[in-house]
Amino acid sequence: MPRKVSYGVDYDEEYDDYEDYDVDYDLDVEDNGNIPQSKQETIKRGIWRCSICTYDNDESLSVCDICGVLRNPLINYGAGSDKKTARFKFDAPSPDDLVFDGLHSSKKVSKANSTDLKSSRVSSSIDQNIGVVGIKSSADRADISSSLMRKGRHHSEDGSNYSKNGTGNMPSSDKSSVSPAALTIKGRPDAIDESSSSSMSRGNPRSLTNSLNKMALDAGSGLSKNGNARVTRSNTKYKPENWMLPGQAEDTLNQLNLAIVGHVDSGKSTLSGRLLHLLGRISQKEMHKNEKEAKLQGKGSFAYAWALDESTEERERGITMTVAVAYFDSKKYHVVVLDSPGHKDFVPNMISGAAQADAAVLVIDASVGSFEVGMDSAKGQTREHAQLIRSFGVDQIIVAVNKMDAVDYSKERFDLIKQRLGTFLRSCGFRDSSIILIPLSAMENQNLVAAPSDVRLLSWYHGPYLLDAIDSLQPPMRDFSKPVLMPICDVLKLSSLGQVSACGKLEAGALRSGSKVLVMPSGNVGIVRSLERDSQACSFARAGDNVAVSLQGIDGSLLTAGGVLCHPDFPVAVAKHLELKVLVLDVTTPILIGSQLEFHVHHAKEAARMVRMLSLLDPKTGKVTKKAPRCLTAKQTAVVEVALQGPVCVEEFSSCRALGRVFLRALGRTIAVGLVTRIIEEQD
Ligand code: GTP
Ligand code: MG
Repeated sequence: MPRKVSYGVDYDEEYDDYEDYDVDYDLDVEDNGNIPQSKQETIKRGIWRCSICTYDNDESLSVCDICGVLRNPLINYGAGSDKKTARFKFDAPSPDDLVFDGLHSSKKVSKANSTDLKSSRVSSSIDQNIGVVGIKSSADRADISSSLMRKGRHHSEDGSNYSKNGTGNMPSSDKSSVSPAALTIKGRPDAIDESSSSSMSRGNPRSLTNSLNKMALDAGSGLSKNGNARVTRSNTKYKPENWMLPGQAEDTLNQLNLAIVGHVDSGKSTLSGRLLHLLGRISQKEMHKNEKEAKLQGKGSFAYAWALDESTEERERGITMTVAVAYFDSKKYHVVVLDSPGHKDFVPNMISGAAQADAAVLVIDASVGSFEVGMDSAKGQTREHAQLIRSFGVDQIIVAVNKMDAVDYSKERFDLIKQRLGTFLRSCGFRDSSIILIPLSAMENQNLVAAPSDVRLLSWYHGPYLLDAIDSLQPPMRDFSKPVLMPICDVLKLSSLGQVSACGKLEAGALRSGSKVLVMPSGNVGIVRSLERDSQACSFARAGDNVAVSLQGIDGSLLTAGGVLCHPDFPVAVAKHLELKVLVLDVTTPILIGSQLEFHVHHAKEAARMVRMLSLLDPKTGKVTKKAPRCLTAKQTAVVEVALQGPVCVEEFSSCRALGRVFLRALGRTIAVGLVTRIIEEQD
């Protein structure tokens, strides 16, 4: 039953040059577990070539300067272990770089060809002929591939629904397309908590917490004189009908959207696969199949990860490239697992998946060297993911300190990681009380769904196991009584019947068959034909649910990922000129007027340009410290104006958090997080 959402990366034929860039990615592992010198190093004295991206690094670097991969991957796991693994390989250029360079992304993917990738998520009865609606959003004009594809499959208890043409048969080109980013957390005790005044952030005036808190508090104040360019939608007149509100008597589990994030190779997919298997969501039959096939490819250690990494490309490379969606039930929650890619080139995909998160599991590789790489300020995705997750509004985080077997379940190692990570997470704005750290081993099944059995861990760890920790999370708050709002993360089309479905998380309100919805930005009204949650038909869906909404009366080409379904009387705004309050992250190059950016809001992504820098703000007080700064540098908070190449569905943060959180990226890195403070120019 786990399904896989595909947010991938396409490249145009203009990028065929990259084929010349291919290298032999098969990383041989000798019997002694070492990588042969000839592949690992070479060419010239003083230079070593990265086996992953082929960049020639200086001898002094222990980590690839380009892709952040360890020079000497840890092959041996713990004393006495005979486990070996070939490391992942990667050859695709960054989608962000394509955008930045103004080059055309997107290989011409035949949507029809990719049909079998995207089946099961919409309908268990729809297994074939499903194509993704070509996404012709404004992002296309911006040379950003905005198409979102869902590839999926069912895993029934007996594995009988396992797609025979699963993604494994796809040509590698078909798996991709950059997902527009998405930040859609709404209604939870939010991002911007009151912790700015808490003890943890007090000592760190420049912390992300402080800055974000301040930004949130000020977001509605409207720094500019001009009012909103449009009539703000009014929630005051809206009255939800009875069925829209959860009844006391209802006996259904709360849905919890759980993003699994962390640095590349930390074991996110293995952990997710292991959990699903332990909880009976992956059949024995399917596990055997994965094990057999993984072994045949010399990647036996990836068997659990393959439950989520479905495509040929992901499996060959040994990395997740797209967000996988799977489900399991704990005592308290119906958990939606969003297994994100860790590689830096797929951060836009991670953003899109994590946008739907209510809480997150940050997976850490405890191995010596690997944790440190993840925390590297320039290349570590542990840092970037934690910052992104926090600024999405996620404030509950479980840190899964994985691969403890590789460090002999050492308490000292765990304590060191706990101490370093704790400091960092606090600086991101997570409260101590909302951080749960758990030592575990996905590979050896220690501390996942039961207390550990290994005495080395049992001797010093007496806290909760992972499933326990998930159940201890606070239920997310939902906007049931607001007009319906669903940012579209994916569009599916059943070509044979002409049916179209929009997939995403309902941020507010409720839907049922027959409900009218306004599809933005096209402005057309459609009627809900049917709804599916977790591949099962359902009669209604409410805020927080991750659903596929089948629509009638809508031309499929008008539905786009990055668009929004909303109440016909409460349309969202569509705009391309915005005022933002941003917090600049750890950038090395200052942001200038004219800087080219990649703008992310919920599942939409658009090329943008910095057009004005209005003021710098004191991160503590929010007061203007300087007007019209000439540039923005790391950790500064500022009010700026950006012009987007094409319009996006957006709202001011003060009126709608889900559509008001933005991220700015450039050169493949997230350079700023922020909030929409004003819509300057609304599209008609
Ligand atoms: P990306 O999605 O590409 O970022 O990687 P990931 O974080 O999903 O990692 P994945 O699950 O693909 O695992 C990467 C490697 O780590 C595989 O070789 C796994 O076998 C190995 N691995 C995962 N968990 C453990 C663990 O608990 N112990 C050990 N020793 N190895 C592990
Ligand atoms: Mg993975």
